[in-house]
Amino acid sequence: MRILLLGSGGREHALAWKISQSKKCEKLFIAPGNAGTATVGENVPMKADDFDAIRTFVLNNRIEMVVVGPEDPLVKGIYDFFRDDAELKDIAVIGPSKAGAVLEGSKDFAKGFMQRHGIPTAAYRTFDGLHLQEGLAFLETLQPPYVLKADGLCAGKGVLILPTLEEAKEELGKMLGGMFGSASSRVVIEEFLSGIECSVFVLTDGKSYKILPEAKDYKRIGEGDTGLNTGGMGSVSPVPFATKEWMQKVEQRIIRPTVEGLRSEGIDYKGFIFFGLINTGGDPKVIEYNVRMGDPETETVMLRLKSDLLDLLEGVATGTLDGRSIAFDERSAVCVMMVSGGYPGSYEKGFPISGIQDVEGSIVFHAGTALKDGQVVTSGGRVIAVSSYGKDKEEALRKSFTEAQKIQFHGKYFRRDIGADL
Ligand code: AMP
Ligand code: GLY
Repeated sequence: MRILLLGSGGREHALAWKISQSKKCEKLFIAPGNAGTATVGENVPMKADDFDAIRTFVLNNRIEMVVVGPEDPLVKGIYDFFRDDAELKDIAVIGPSKAGAVLEGSKDFAKGFMQRHGIPTAAYRTFDGLHLQEGLAFLETLQPPYVLKADGLCAGKGVLILPTLEEAKEELGKMLGGMFGSASSRVVIEEFLSGIECSVFVLTDGKSYKILPEAKDYKRIGEGDTGLNTGGMGSVSPVPFATKEWMQKVEQRIIRPTVEGLRSEGIDYKGFIFFGLINTGGDPKVIEYNVRMGDPETETVMLRLKSDLLDLLEGVATGTLDGRSIAFDERSAVCVMMVSGGYPGSYEKGFPISGIQDVEGSIVFHAGTALKDGQVVTSGGRVIAVSSYGKDKEEALRKSFTEAQKIQFHGKYFRRDIGADL
């Protein structure tokens, strides 16, 4: 099969790494990719949401499947763009239709969907700028801390958790006043749930589904989960509290009603569903849906997926997922993300990276790197993910921390407490 993978982060390097191992993979292109994806496929200098350029490329290069890494092209409707084009309509797109991508694109839609299908989640109400007073009054009925969510996509920055009623009221006013542009023209106010989080992933062809290995990610920049939110500082799979019994609850109460709900609402969905869950007193609840794989969870989930990913994706595209087999590696997998100094605040790019070739036994996924005159340089906040296997997470973590010492770039930082809370 000839494949085009869209995206440029660590998630895409991990997906490309796994796809390139498939016997069914004849040729893999990644657009735009990074210095890491260039080692397992061919990078194409094309933006992941430039639909016209993608159209031309796909036709000229006889692409048979487009795998969409990030949410942006999905929310903008790349699936529908292909289906509505006479020349593209038979090319597989792994990812939901625009109507399905709204599960991630609108928090209010996601909450309504869960309510309609009896899927456990935090109680909530949504307000727009015309109903600020009602929103302020609703906040008074809740207990602290207060959770405010911009309805639309904000690159992971649209959720505020405020300790006092005063701050919550002030921030609600700012959000509805345009703090995140049109993304916060509506704000979801929801009940605070306390518990530990877990990311669960499924692949669905719209009828059946396969559950992938679960993972936990670490979002804060500082050790002990302190400081600002980031795109993700590391991940661990499996997650100890995600026992067989707990995963059965997840499947019965959350996964099955979601897949059936999409179908019953006539929403075309052939791709990944990412369930951001929280464990509250032994019961899973949904914090958020994403319509793609997680980053940096993919950098551990792909290590634990023993089966041929391309075979599963082919099942998704052709509606034959039910008949495909899926197997997991019993070992633990972890990923430690090395980031640029200053991230997630301002940071500089373009520093040379050395030592990658000295890494032994771990898998180096590039997140924010580029090639400049043959040299791998930093090109983002999250730079390199060092992923490792171990008989348990402790062994895998020791491996990643040791190997991460070998990679050098100016201002490098990584958290040394990934997995320590589990
Ligand atoms: P989201 O973008 O919806 O995943 O929210 C970002 C982060 O905010 C989540 O990963 C949680 O850590 C936290 N969060 C979101 N909603 C809630 C909630 N209702 N209760 C507690 N924490 C939450
Ligand atoms: N790791 C969380 C996300 O990808 O949104």
